[in-house]
Amino acid sequence: MLKKLLITRPIAAPVLVQAKAIFDVTVHAGGKLSVTQAAQALAQFDAILPTLGDGFTADAFVGEIRCKMIGNFGVGYNHIDVDAAAKAGVIVSNTPDVLTDATADIALTLLLATARRAGEGERFVRSGKWGGFDGGGIMGTHVTGKTLGVIGMGRIGHAIAARCHYGFGMDVVFHNRSPKVVPVPARQLDGLHDVMAAADFVVVATPGGAGTTKLIDAAALAAMKPTGIFINISRGEVVDEDALIAALETRQIAGAGLDVYENEPHVPSRLLALESCVLLPHLGSATQETRQAMAQMALDNIIAWADGGDPPQRVN
Ligand code: GLV
Repeated sequence: MLKKLLITRPIAAPVLVQAKAIFDVTVHAGGKLSVTQAAQALAQFDAILPTLGDGFTADAFVGEIRCKMIGNFGVGYNHIDVDAAAKAGVIVSNTPDVLTDATADIALTLLLATARRAGEGERFVRSGKWGGFDGGGIMGTHVTGKTLGVIGMGRIGHAIAARCHYGFGMDVVFHNRSPKVVPVPARQLDGLHDVMAAADFVVVATPGGAGTTKLIDAAALAAMKPTGIFINISRGEVVDEDALIAALETRQIAGAGLDVYENEPHVPSRLLALESCVLLPHLGSATQETRQAMAQMALDNIIAWADGGDPPQRVN
């Protein structure tokens, strides 16, 4: 009998075709799984291919568990309690590497758009109020030659540092929990606040989860330059969103470019009201090529498990 696989969101067609040839596949059509739905899925399916927002918290793993393998679609897996999964005998894998470039590109999109006030400019053109080239007008801040501060120097942090250093001649400083030697000219500074204070542009690229929740708090934001621009492409929970909004409203910092939010898809109205922010709907990995590669990697891990092997991107 074919193993039962639940895919919790639509995935690239060729990967779905491959999955259907190997497994008895159900594609969940109702958006993200609640904790109750996640628990039901764990009781009913042999394997699950979930993604960000699905409720695989510790509470989902307390009942009957049929599932042996969760092949997560996404590098971040803070929506899955991997320790609870391990205790319940469930292997978890993720999709690193394949989304590094796409996510670094979205960081640069936000950095440039925020520095050059592209969101405001776009809204201005669409409003029909633009009166032609203006020597004053919507004035941004220069990017080339400035200092980048990376918070979390993992794969995505490296890729952002390389783009900024080699593409824009930027000096790179960074904060990382452990000492790190990187293949891009970059200096690791002693503390988080040292990086926040030195940088013209701060980009957060840490993983989510308990170890980084509200790492960027009011005190960290207060260390930034008043001209500083803050970018987050990691997880919303890494930043104290209220503190960020307060720092922007009081012009303690100059702007922010955000791809992620504390309670997605909720974006606070105070944030929406701020012209100094560029706001994207979690597009980090959202290119067709990357999303297909992520789906393929998630499925390949599930296939490896089904064949009796160790999934190559296992995380628990
Ligand atoms: C996207 O945010 C991911 O974790 O893959």
